Amino acid sequence: MEYKNLIVEIKDGIALVKLNRPKALNALNSEMLEEIKHAGDALNANKDVRVVIITGEGDKAFIAGADILEMKDLTAIGGMKFSLKGFEAIGTLENMEKPVIAAVNGFALGGGFEVAIACDIIYASDKAKVGFPETTLGIHPGFGGTQRTAKLVGLAKAKELIFTGKTITAQEAYKMGLINKVVPHDQLMGEVMALAEKIKANGPFAVRLAKECINKSLSLDNKEGLIFEAKNFGLCFATKDQKEGMTAFVEKRKPTYKGE
Ligand code: CAA
Repeated sequence: MEYKNLIVEIKDGIALVKLNRPKALNALNSEMLEEIKHAGDALNANKDVRVVIITGEGDKAFIAGADILEMKDLTAIGGMKFSLKGFEAIGTLENMEKPVIAAVNGFALGGGFEVAIACDIIYASDKAKVGFPETTLGIHPGFGGTQRTAKLVGLAKAKELIFTGKTITAQEAYKMGLINKVVPHDQLMGEVMALAEKIKANGPFAVRLAKECINKSLSLDNKEGLIFEAKNFGLCFATKDQKEGMTAFVEKRKPTYKGE
């Protein structure tokens, strides 16, 4: 598929997905959401890809939210369909079998911040500003923000952010635990690439199964979660990666993983 709103580059096992509507600060319209879902599915199926990075094209925004022009005249059913389209696109990223890193290079607002918090790890530029301004527009977050934020920062902080619609700095979001790391703007992509390389060097199957366990911890009770972990831990021993990792340790060399 040829994308109109995304640029996808794959190099040495790392896929870089750039959201590409810079004139509209990469606002998410229906077409872009469909393309994100398509690209997410394709990258998930591509065995050569071990880590995915998402960032915004241009110097100003990661994503400034869902497209307000497209939403302005929606009916109730239209609003629900638009939300579900976001749910599908963002769910594809969240459930991808490989790690997804958000490189937040500027504004990540509303639906844009909802994309970021569905990724596994967020690194942000020190110039980035994030938040959920939806209530200032007479709506509330519709791409998962009301559900994911409280799990990340607790009910009270999630409610304060969403009820006020205030925009906060990357540093404030870091202090709240919403962002993993804040880096100087011009070093963002270098730091994110270094992170991707570090993850890429580890057993792909183990990283994939760990992601599945960690995501499951949000919906399973403790006992079910621990049983799920035991099952995935056992599965690691069915892989060549585990043999390679432990043999390399014994032979005092670096392992070479093939994701098998
Ligand atoms: N939708 C559509 N277009 C958008 C947009 C959005 N979310 N955000 C920015 N744009 C467009 C602007 O309309 C403008 O287009 P024109 O040049 O054609 O006028 C262009 O991008 C540049 O934006 P600004 O001139 O406004 O740039 P700025 O630097 O003055 O301000 C900003 C930047 C503070 C991010 C401001 O653009 C803004 O407040 N954007 C809207 C943010 C927002 O409310 N996001 C939440 C959307 S609702 C949502 O996401 C719902 C959901 O959960 C699913």
